[in-house]
Amino acid sequence: MLISPNFSDIAKPNIEFKTFPDGDNYVRVPDAGKLKGEVSLLHRLYPEQDKAVFQAVLMLDILKKAGAKPILVAPYLPYSRQDKTFLEGEALSAEVLCRMLKSAGAEKLVTLDCHFLKKEGRAEYGGLTIDNISMGKALIEHAKKKINGERLEVISPDVGAKYLVEEYGGKSMEKVRGAYVEGSEAYRKIEKVEFGFDVKGSNVLILDDMISTGGTMFRAVENVKKGGAKKVLCAATHGFFLKGSLEKLKGMCDSVFVTNSIPSPVSEVDFMAVLKEKSVL
Ligand code: R5P
Repeated sequence: MLISPNFSDIAKPNIEFKTFPDGDNYVRVPDAGKLKGEVSLLHRLYPEQDKAVFQAVLMLDILKKAGAKPILVAPYLPYSRQDKTFLEGEALSAEVLCRMLKSAGAEKLVTLDCHFLKKEGRAEYGGLTIDNISMGKALIEHAKKKINGERLEVISPDVGAKYLVEEYGGKSMEKVRGAYVEGSEAYRKIEKVEFGFDVKGSNVLILDDMISTGGTMFRAVENVKKGGAKKVLCAATHGFFLKGSLEKLKGMCDSVFVTNSIPSPVSEVDFMAVLKEKSVL
């Protein structure tokens, strides 16, 4: 198994990364020539996604040339929210990235709750084979421990994350995004997050594939609080917690937690344990 330096919180790296004086990436896989057949390559593609993607491309190319069949294990796939275009001339970034990884030599990508797939299992996208592993069950079990086995309602803040909750009898809110905001940030404002079911007196877990700026979660938490929920827990597979959203969310609900797909102070659920349990590694 090959471990990138950006997986050092999980295992000892056996790949070398350096940076040339001008900022170019240097990558070396010692003993690459000895690697044959399927080889798992554990490497995060976030943070610093563009650098991390190029490091992945270089490592995949080394392994392909050595005659191995690399399986890239990247818990979060960046650009996965750009699988649709809204305006003429926009890049379909999710597809471009998958095509790049495939052409660099990836035999397969193993990732977690990939935004555009919206269900667990194997898929083909941009010519790349993807095994999408869901963290939904592990996150729900973690939430149940936090409320000492009391009854828990599981709700997704939008229909895109419905697959995470429906197996557990969960319901989904409806989110509507508007046009891009003015300025240099590519951000589509949330117009509304609608909610039409009863949570009065219930413990509620709001579960999403990711918490980025927190905008979606803030609206979802406000909804269930207005609806009279007892305890409110927020969880996601991937936690970016941009723009101070972790502190704000902590102040709004009883618990906030994510997996260690992107390490954060609230990475309480270990995705490696799930990959091992599912015999992915
Ligand atoms: C979008 O459909 C995703 O599932 C998340 O709800 C969204 O990306 C979270 O982004 P933010 O935290 O910025 O609202």
